Amino acid sequence: MYVLKPADTRYQTLNVYIPEAYFSGGSIDGYTAQTAPIFFPNNIGGYMPATAGQPENDQRAGGKPNAIMLALSKGYVVASAGARGRTEANGHAPAAIVDLKAAVRYLKANDQAMAGDANKIISNGTSAGGALSALLGTSGGSKDYEPYLRQLGAARANDTIFAVSAYCPITNLEYADAAYEWQFNGVNDYQKIDISMLDYKVERKLVKGTQTPAQIQLSGSLKALFPAYVNSLKLKNAQGTPMTLDANGNGTFKTEMEAMLLQSAQKALDNGKDLSDQTWLTIQNGKAIAADFAAYAQFVGRQKTAPAFDGVDLSTGENQLFGDARTDKKHFTAFSLKNSTVAGSLKADAHTVKLMNAMNYTSPTQHYRIRVGENDRDTSLAIGLLLSLKLKNSGKNVDYALPWGVPHSGDYDLDELFAWMKSVAM
Ligand code: DHB
Repeated sequence: MYVLKPADTRYQTLNVYIPEAYFSGGSIDGYTAQTAPIFFPNNIGGYMPATAGQPENDQRAGGKPNAIMLALSKGYVVASAGARGRTEANGHAPAAIVDLKAAVRYLKANDQAMAGDANKIISNGTSAGGALSALLGTSGGSKDYEPYLRQLGAARANDTIFAVSAYCPITNLEYADAAYEWQFNGVNDYQKIDISMLDYKVERKLVKGTQTPAQIQLSGSLKALFPAYVNSLKLKNAQGTPMTLDANGNGTFKTEMEAMLLQSAQKALDNGKDLSDQTWLTIQNGKAIAADFAAYAQFVGRQKTAPAFDGVDLSTGENQLFGDARTDKKHFTAFSLKNSTVAGSLKADAHTVKLMNAMNYTSPTQHYRIRVGENDRDTSLAIGLLLSLKLKNSGKNVDYALPWGVPHSGDYDLDELFAWMKSVAM
């Protein structure tokens, strides 16, 4: 248990694993019991409750060792925390991030007594867990979470972490609806997931449909909100070009998005992949020379109907994330509250919504690795790009890419992840 006054003893626990060599004074890959970074993976999916992770073979990855097993073999101390989630009365926002922070504080408060270097905590997570991993990084040290941590009897320590690995983070929920329609407006056929739990780990059954006239109208209104948001961030790309969008959603930010897709495609081409079926891509002499974002959206297809996150009928996982013990499901954007089809529906308070978005914070955490599958439709590709640009613009070391053909998933490139971890932690 990582808190003195747990609210849920099933989830507020921490599993700690130490490479066997460290019990006899040994070293692995240059690390010792004292210097080994602490790998901090979470098992959170769909903003559901999650138990602490353990070393095991990953059945979904063809029985390969999971990230915890691999981390141990490479000399990391592993600490995996469980966290409360939206289906529990006391698991609504901000419970999950408060729990992860409490676990980090436990590791920091006990650093002298435990193996591993708590100044080198590296978080890892996928989807909702990726969003929380990113948020754990950006919000480190923020006072905003203090009252919640105190209520749980969390250890008194700083909760700033060293580095973040985030796969397909479902973050920036305030603007995710607008971002989704910026990408998918005009694509009205969809393949929706047939479960209320969007958890990437659960088998995904897709149901085909077409957006209703009402959804098509909402899509247009949401798309129109996105340019003002992007422009308000005042971001620049690596070349120093301001990232902007005009009223129609065109501009340098869209060109940057297309450039990221081109990079992904080029890597696939260089690895000998045949991309001739990718109707949105122009290839000449083995070079990906043009990407058409609208045609890309049409090609990969819509997975969620408008609004993708703050459902006007309160039907999404995120509506439940922002509920509370009294009201299980709430809106969290002014737009969906205004367009709500549920009589008497409520909106979560702005502070709670703020606490869940990695874009709202800036911490000293320096290292970020962000991966979003090129084939991911769970949130707009803009969400990961905006996060990576914001971090880069605030001087962080960011490794961001859209791996080719990869769907909404994580931990698929563990050798590369661990090479990155080594490069930042040494
Ligand atoms: C997850 C997927 C989603 O589409 C979403 O909206 C929230 C979470 C997930 O896989 O964790």
